Amino acid sequence: MEIEPGFIGRTFDDFLFRPRRGVVRSRGEVRLTTRLSTHVPLELPIVSANMDSVTGAGMARTMALEGGLGFVHRAMPIDAQAAEVERVKRSHGHVVEEPIVLPRDATLREAREVIARHHITGILIEETRDSGVLAGILSNRDMPWDESGGERRIDELMTPFARMRVAAPDVDLHEAEKILFENRIEKLPLVDADRRIRGLITKSDLILACRRPFSSKDAKGRLRVGAAIGARGDFLERAAELVSSGADALLIDIAHGHSDVMRTAVEAVKRKHAGVDLVAGNVGTGEGARFLRDLGVNAIKVGIGPGRGCRTRLETAAGVPQLQAIREAWCAVGEDIPIIADGGAREDKDLFLALACGASSVMLGSMLAGTDESPGTVIEDPATGRKHKLYRGMTSPQAVFQALYDGAGDDSALETPAEGQEMEVPYKGSVVDVIHRIRGHLQSAVSYGGGRTLAEVRSEVVRDPLAHLVTLSDASRRESYER
Ligand code: XMP
Repeated sequence: MEIEPGFIGRTFDDFLFRPRRGVVRSRGEVRLTTRLSTHVPLELPIVSANMDSVTGAGMARTMALEGGLGFVHRAMPIDAQAAEVERVKRSHGHVVEEPIVLPRDATLREAREVIARHHITGILIEETRDSGVLAGILSNRDMPWDESGGERRIDELMTPFARMRVAAPDVDLHEAEKILFENRIEKLPLVDADRRIRGLITKSDLILACRRPFSSKDAKGRLRVGAAIGARGDFLERAAELVSSGADALLIDIAHGHSDVMRTAVEAVKRKHAGVDLVAGNVGTGEGARFLRDLGVNAIKVGIGPGRGCRTRLETAAGVPQLQAIREAWCAVGEDIPIIADGGAREDKDLFLALACGASSVMLGSMLAGTDESPGTVIEDPATGRKHKLYRGMTSPQAVFQALYDGAGDDSALETPAEGQEMEVPYKGSVVDVIHRIRGHLQSAVSYGGGRTLAEVRSEVVRDPLAHLVTLSDASRRESYER
């Protein structure tokens, strides 16, 4: 299908949505379920950008807890990125399959280091290193609160096996819940008949499972996470490490995704990792979207140059207005494959327009930057007291230098002139509040759209969005947005 002429040259601020008869009693009832890629469903159509000022493990974890997903950026060495992915996968699950352990002759100092590094509240102790035989458990309450006693052996402080409650590896979750509650304990190690450690169930994971049924989780109850790779150099090695760390989706993210380089990379990754969803981008045209679909990827990322940290359009004249690009992509591939609209969303309403015109989810950079969960430091201006964080395009000189400094990337990146820039964004507190606001506005938008679910409104609108949109004049744009 050809793109409708009314979308040519248009983007988010060119349209309003014509309200339709509402059917929900309260917007809280509205479901926003969608899909990231062919095999990864989402309860919230928001994805955090794989940028070094947006998504590390902290952001990815929160995104998944809230029902979206984060793509961990790749401007770091392979082992560092794999460790970020592992941190998300380890942070929650019905069962922690390979709990972290220390041998009983380890020191309290070692235990403190491991606990801090992995953000855990207690650690299982094994009889001898690598034996896997449970000797005890050392939890926060077993350790002196001050930093004293670093040289003490942990088996002097741990709760020994004889005084612990454990369960068999195949214990069901209700039974585990009962044991945890009746014994007022927080951790339930799973051991076999030879006392070998086979897993760990924690109270916080069980609480999370019942309080947040909408979190993005895999079949084992672990939070979902995506990770970016490139299309050249060590990208296959990176892909292999990320997959073995548990990444749920790989993203081949390059500036010009409609290219021979992409074709070679997709074919190579698919040959080795057929079991993991592969997202590819970016493209900005219908031909680009068809090209990626025909390569057999599981989702297409759309957006050439709309991002807040981007200079591609200014420097090269390449680009397509973002709503046109989304629409072109949908007209080219329809519902064959999910479209991730990437970049250019500045207001909450932009997400609804992107979704109604063809996207299945929206990737956000600047809207999620400047939060507690985004990497980087909060900087306070001593004169005004205003706080901000830095946000930057991944091809900005600052991001390129940082990647080289951190041991990722190669000098050739310096030969390409920058197509991204760095900027200050106001400090916004926790990203959870930002997500709650966007979710609420999306739910409202769906109720103005006359539906009970985003999927319902989208399926009605997406076939002919212009029948539901009002094109703005300069005067109506002023009336709408100037305050
Ligand atoms: P927003 O508008 O959400 O955009 O801040 C996030 C997206 O911007 C893209 N990105 C870049 N594009 N040069 C570009 O042309 C860059 O240096 C750059 N860095 C990020 C990327 O698609 C991201 O998701």
